[in-house]
Parts: sequence; structure tokens; C-alpha cells
Amino acid sequence: MSHWTAGDIPAQPGKLAVITGANSGVGFHAALELARAAAQVILACRNLDKAEAARRRILAQVPDAQVETALLDLASLASVRAFADKFLAQQRSLDLLINNAGVMALPTRQVTPDGFEMQFGTNHLGHFALTGLLLPAIFAAPAPRIVTVSSIAHRGGHIRFNDLQWTRGYKPWPAYRQSKLANLYFAFELARRLQTAHPNVASIAVHPGVATTNLFAAGPGQKKNLAGILAPIVISIIGQSDAQGALPTLYGATAPQAQSGHFYGSGGFRQMRGYPVEVRAETPAYDEAIAAQLWQVSEDLTRVQYSF
Ligand SMILES: NC(=O)c1ccc[n+]([C@@H]2O[C@H](COP(=O)([O-])OP(=O)(O)OC[C@H]3O[C@@H](n4cnc5c(N)ncnc54)[C@H](OP(=O)(O)O)[C@@H]3O)[C@@H](O)[C@H]2O)c1
Repeated sequence: MSHWTAGDIPAQPGKLAVITGANSGVGFHAALELARAAAQVILACRNLDKAEAARRRILAQVPDAQVETALLDLASLASVRAFADKFLAQQRSLDLLINNAGVMALPTRQVTPDGFEMQFGTNHLGHFALTGLLLPAIFAAPAPRIVTVSSIAHRGGHIRFNDLQWTRGYKPWPAYRQSKLANLYFAFELARRLQTAHPNVASIAVHPGVATTNLFAAGPGQKKNLAGILAPIVISIIGQSDAQGALPTLYGATAPQAQSGHFYGSGGFRQMRGYPVEVRAETPAYDEAIAAQLWQVSEDLTRVQYSF
């Protein structure tokens, strides 16, 4: 059986992609390969120096790449609005939005400037707001896709509607699981809502297996105990490369056979590594009542109303 690789990405000339958290890991490799396929790529990052360094790394490999950088801090609704306002003012249509940026298992509870628990705020609410605000540009594209990066860590997660922000009993991994399950509820619910009003727009969920990126050092690795020190080392042994981890994202973003409302991830051992395949989320992720409830709460918290 032949595997889907970056070499299978259809040519993307004339397409515009926004990738959040594109300065490292999965997001960087997604940007690199989309640029190689001749898409215009915007690296939407919270640190412009890191974004510029990533832009230069892409240009070193793809000299004619069309890559821009833009400031976007998903943890700040003001930053999300500023990014979206600036983007919409340019009157460009958006073919690909890749909701990739994320933080994982922060050892202690941190809050965003808006008062949200950092993982829920960044991984879910920031992307929920961003997508809703960018819809006018997305609807202006002929066959746009919104790709949301979840994780196998959605397994065992649940949405704590009685304390979404973990004000009581914060636990790093359950908080991460909640945020990654929220990514799935969002991607699937968005697909359902788009189906009638905008059937040409796809919402696709993906996960990168386990990939050796900065995610582990930036999250659990902050804790200078044995587990914190060992986490990035263990992941570097069992994980796949960040380039390989980007393949499900690239598949969801470009493969003609990828479908709205579906979930793609690494197809090898326990979905931790391997080439992109369609995967099934844990059953609770398909609960439409929970998805609708989370959608309403997310609109209320972000004050971003979806206009369809
Ligand atoms: N690596 C894995 O095994 C794995 C497994 C499952 C799912 N994922 C998911 O894959 C996605 C990408 O992660 P990665 O593994 O590639 O890790 P990474 O290398 O740490 O990349 C994460 C990116 O998100 C950015 N980011 C974090 N907080 C942000 C914020 N508030 N605003 C804007 N950007 C922000 C980071 O920026 P800075 O460089 O400035 O920190 C970085 O560019 C995440 O959604 C993660 O949950 C990863």
C-alpha cells in the first residue's frame, strides 16, 4: 500500500493559507510544505522574531516561497481581533485556515489576559474566535478548508461545563484533554453547521500522532522534577519527526479525498506515528448536544457570534 506523503500535495498556486503557531513543530512543517506547493502562507505567531526566523528557514529551502509573518496571540482575544481586522481590511480571500497553535499540560494553572485557563483559552477559545472572525474571508474563497489540530489526548477528556476554566482542582493533563476534545467538538460542529449554509467550505479535524516538537519542553518540561525532565526525552525516543507529524495536517488541508467533518491522524501503532489515515475519535466527541452547548458557551465567552 502506498502512503500519502508531502510529495502527494496537489499544487497550490493562488491559494492563501493562514497557519497559527507556524514558527515551530507541526505548524512550521505544514507551512514549509504548503509554500513548497506554491501556496501563499501567512505564519501567524505570537512572537514576530520567531516568525521571521521561521520565514527565513522556509526561504532557505524554498527560495521562491511566498511567506509572510503576522502577529497573533491566541491567548488574547484583543490580539485575535486585531489580527482578523487587519486581515479582513486587506480584502483577501482565505483558502486555508490551519488552527494549529497550542500549549500542553502546563504544570501550574495559568490564565489568559481574558481570564481563561491557558490551554482552553489558547487551544480552543482563541481558535474559535479566530475562525468566526475570519469567516467573511473564508466564504470569499471557492473551496476553503478549516483544519483544526486536535490530539489523541482528546481520549478520556471531557468538557467540565461546571468549571471550564479549572478554578478548582487544576490538573495539567485533564485540562489539556479538555482543550483537545473541545477542538474536536468545534471542528465537527462547524462541519455540521457549514453543511447546509456553505457546503463548499470544509471543516476537518486532524492529529499529528506523537511528534518531537517544542510542545513537551514548553509544557510538562517546565516542571524541573524527574517527570518534567524525562518527558521530552521519552517523547524524542517514541515520537516521530515534526515533519512526519505535519502530514495529517497537510492531508486534511490539501488531499482531494479529505472530507468535511472527518478526522485524520497518524495511522501506525496506537496512532502515535505513521502516515495519515482517517481515524475515529472517541465516541463522546460525536455527541451533538455537547457540541452545541460548547458552541454556545464559546460564543458567549469570546463574544464572537458566527454569522450563518
Ligand atoms: N507534538 C505532538 O506530539 C502533538 C500531539 C498531539 C497534538 N499536538 C498539537 O499540535 C499542535 C502544534 O504543536 P507542536 O507539537 O507543533 O508544538 P510546538 O512546536 O510547541 O508548536 C506550538 C506552536 O504554537 C504556538 N503557540 C503557543 N501558544 C500560542 C499563543 N498563545 N498564540 C499563538 N501561538 C501560540 C507556539 O509558539 P511559541 O514558539 O511562541 O511558543 C508554537 O509556534 C498543537 O495544537 C498541539 O496540541 C501535538
